[in-house]
Amino acid sequence: MNKENNFNPEIIVDSPGRINFIGGHTDYNNGFVLPAAIDKKIKFEFKKNGTTNICNVQSKNYNKFLVVDLAKIKPSTEGWENYILGVLQQLLDRSDRVRGFDCIISSELPIGSGLSSSAALECGLAYGINQLFDLRLSKLEIAQLSRDAEQEYVGTKCGIMDQYASVFGEENMVLFLDCLSLEYQLIPMQLTDYRVLIINTNVEHNLSTSHYNKRSEECEEGVEVIREKYNSVSSLRGVTLSMLEEVKEFMLPIVYQRCLYIIQENERVQKAAEYLKNNNLKSFGELLYQCHKGLRYQYEISCNELDFLVDFSKEKDFVLGSRMMGGGFGGCTINIIQKDFVETYIKEISQAYEDEFNIKLDAFQVAPSKGTNHQLLTIQENR
Ligand code: GLA
Repeated sequence: MNKENNFNPEIIVDSPGRINFIGGHTDYNNGFVLPAAIDKKIKFEFKKNGTTNICNVQSKNYNKFLVVDLAKIKPSTEGWENYILGVLQQLLDRSDRVRGFDCIISSELPIGSGLSSSAALECGLAYGINQLFDLRLSKLEIAQLSRDAEQEYVGTKCGIMDQYASVFGEENMVLFLDCLSLEYQLIPMQLTDYRVLIINTNVEHNLSTSHYNKRSEECEEGVEVIREKYNSVSSLRGVTLSMLEEVKEFMLPIVYQRCLYIIQENERVQKAAEYLKNNNLKSFGELLYQCHKGLRYQYEISCNELDFLVDFSKEKDFVLGSRMMGGGFGGCTINIIQKDFVETYIKEISQAYEDEFNIKLDAFQVAPSKGTNHQLLTIQENR
């Protein structure tokens, strides 16, 4: 690959991270979610390199290089490489037009923090190659193949939310996505005097992937029990509270709690979408607290650091809502906070958090932004 300063890209792709206001772990249960793409992204510079099957990928932040032979793709032992390899494999499965290319990646998204840098990486790569070689894949196919790549090469049994939000996001809009039909509504985010503040615990507890997958298995186990009575049910989406109560005695208590959380969370997401449409941020914020409570006690996917941050915010009138976001066991909280208090609050909570855990947190504002997009560069611009 050319040295960086000689790299004349044909296409530049911006692929954003995402936030999710509410709808924690509902996506892989065919439920509802309320995410948005954000104004923090991964940038990709692409060009064809004239070979039939050699791809050179460079990660600027990590100063890592990956050379892939399209004829010999297999999973790697290096974590980040699997996101790339997985997407390439999915593209090859869907098209015979992919050829060799060079790509430089630079990211402003913290990794493993719950802002879904992984979906941004997968979708940006898939989107760029789709443009570069005119593969004619739709936005939905890009989101789906990126999700499949993560499931197959990375091993997380994730849902579609992150990839969908990263690809379909729009400026100042929140997506109310039905993960069963894959239809969505765009709801304007009218924050007025409020802001979205992300607070990163800067912890990522071990085994988070296996715990994540375990939750998905527990939900499936619940569905199996419910199916004994209601055989048309194929996911928790088709289950009501009264149906769950009817079969409660046949389930392990833990499986019951997981299912109960998902059913209640789906109700919360639908309510939250209504509150957002009516610009009732106060009631919207309340639901974020309820969501966190469910994730903490029923779904058991939180951790002390996340709980500390959410509890701390509860004493502040200027914070309308707060909850953990993403896969769990670390990463970020999402907070809705009155704009005049942002700076002092960051100072205060940073100090309290450091006193408690001896860890420094990171805090930054984000805004709902447009999804994966590209710029085609002309020959003149390249020179
Ligand atoms: C991760 C997964 C998503 C979703 C969230 C939890 O970000 O990739 O599919 O399940 O966790 O809401």
